[in-house]
Amino acid sequence: MNQDDLKRAVARAALDELVPGCVVGVGTGSTVDCFIDALAERASNHPGAISSSERSSARLRKAGIPVLGIDEALARGLPLPVYVDGADEIDGERRMIKGGGGALTREKIVASAFERFVCIVDASKRVERLGRFPLPVEVIPMASALVASRLRALGGQPVPRAGFVTDNGNHILDVAGLRIDDPEGLEARIGLWAGVVSVGLFAIAPATVVLVAGQDGVRRYA
Ligand code: 5RP
Repeated sequence: MNQDDLKRAVARAALDELVPGCVVGVGTGSTVDCFIDALAERASNHPGAISSSERSSARLRKAGIPVLGIDEALARGLPLPVYVDGADEIDGERRMIKGGGGALTREKIVASAFERFVCIVDASKRVERLGRFPLPVEVIPMASALVASRLRALGGQPVPRAGFVTDNGNHILDVAGLRIDDPEGLEARIGLWAGVVSVGLFAIAPATVVLVAGQDGVRRYA
């Protein structure tokens, strides 16, 4: 199986994690695109989805799946059991680096609204230690140079993501070279800096369940 086959396999496996009758939380990325395509076949089982990006919202609507806002779901008292999203890296404690697609802020917001985070990845995303993938940090544009200088002081090499503006109108710094010994501590530390909107570390609130697609099938870790 090639990587696209693995993405499709793990996306389909995620359908078994969903709660029928409930709204589904939907992340962003190529693996999630496969999940949306699979979800479309079971669209009638779910009243709709809460999406983490304009990209996923457009794909959901095209698939005939209604897109709700968090405010609407809360006002209606709808249960929010399961959020499904991919990752750029995930370690053995289910901590992740996310934001390769630039949707990290909305992903963090939507994930936090749901009870369980089901992470869907192919085996290439599993790492012993986070940090090979450059860490995305979303910043308010006027703070970009200031935050970049602080990231350099931590030993990182921040590079502004060229020509990219997030759904929130902000910029992304992709930070290579960071030594991530304490993912939770680093997430909290960078997250407190003025001008930082979100850090692409998802360690303080890791995934609840990880589905990993490899050549020997889809494995589940919880
Ligand atoms: C987007 C993300 C994605 O989950 C991450 O980039 C993985 O994407 P893909 O499934 O395309 O490899 O965090 O902001």
